[in-house]
Amino acid sequence: MAQATNTIALITGASRVIGFEAARQFGQQGITVVLTGRNQEQGTAAIQTLMAEDLTIDFLELDVAQAASVTAAAHNIEQTYGKLDILLNNAAAYADWSETASSADLAHAQDVLNINLFGTWRVIQAFLPLLKNSQHGRIVNVSSGAGSHGEKPFGLTTGPTATSYAVSKAALNALTVKFANELKEQRILVNAVDPGLTATAPGMEQMGARPVAEGAASVVWAATLPDDGPTGGFFRDGVPLPW
Ligand SMILES: NC(=O)c1ccc[n+]([C@@H]2O[C@H](COP(=O)([O-])OP(=O)(O)OC[C@H]3O[C@@H](n4cnc5c(N)ncnc54)[C@H](OP(=O)(O)O)[C@@H]3O)[C@@H](O)[C@H]2O)c1
Repeated sequence: MAQATNTIALITGASRVIGFEAARQFGQQGITVVLTGRNQEQGTAAIQTLMAEDLTIDFLELDVAQAASVTAAAHNIEQTYGKLDILLNNAAAYADWSETASSADLAHAQDVLNINLFGTWRVIQAFLPLLKNSQHGRIVNVSSGAGSHGEKPFGLTTGPTATSYAVSKAALNALTVKFANELKEQRILVNAVDPGLTATAPGMEQMGARPVAEGAASVVWAATLPDDGPTGGFFRDGVPLPW
């Protein structure tokens, strides 16, 4: 394993695609990465791939929907590192694209919100004391154009995206602003980022989705902002998006 650096990043739902690729890009910048996920086997396989690339990386089990799991992960990071510099909230649940506001199964919609909105909220609350121990705290909430009023063709007013997913991401953007305002004095930058339509599943390239490395780079940008960088914004590729 390569020598650990002083910057510690934790990523939720990172065993595959965008979260996994963000872990790789952090590692390539010399950042020590804690890759988390709810499946130990998948997570272990993921870090073995990145360790073979000589990156400094560790796995921690973390299910954002389970308060006990989140608390245990935060305790583990406190014991191991005593601080956290970057919290990348990537984990998300989807709903079938045919789900409309009138047809949605509310039990499933609640599950989507429990992961995408409350899961992120829960994780931020648990890790906040550790982020406050950092000199350069960064929180990035991976959002989506699906939650944006201004986004075409996947936005709130124009897109076919599932209602519960779109609502969860719009609410996540609002939560981002609330945390950003609250944490301004502590100089913790909090932003929401859309990776853009990214080829994370078979067939998506044919829909015009871009490579996973590009989607991940959009997210990594916000996690590695300088101290005078923006906070409370919603971005794709470093460019502000309407929401
Ligand atoms: N792909 C796109 O085009 C696109 C566009 C806009 C925004 N986004 C956003 O980008 C982020 C990553 O998306 P992706 O396409 O890479 O999605 P993905 O392939 O579905 O990955 C989502 C990750 O979240 C994890 N996860 C789900 N529930 C969890 C829980 N309760 N606790 C912990 N981890 C959990 C999944 O783990 P399991 O393996 O255990 O299921 C998976 O690793 C998401 O926030 C998504 O909304 C993606």
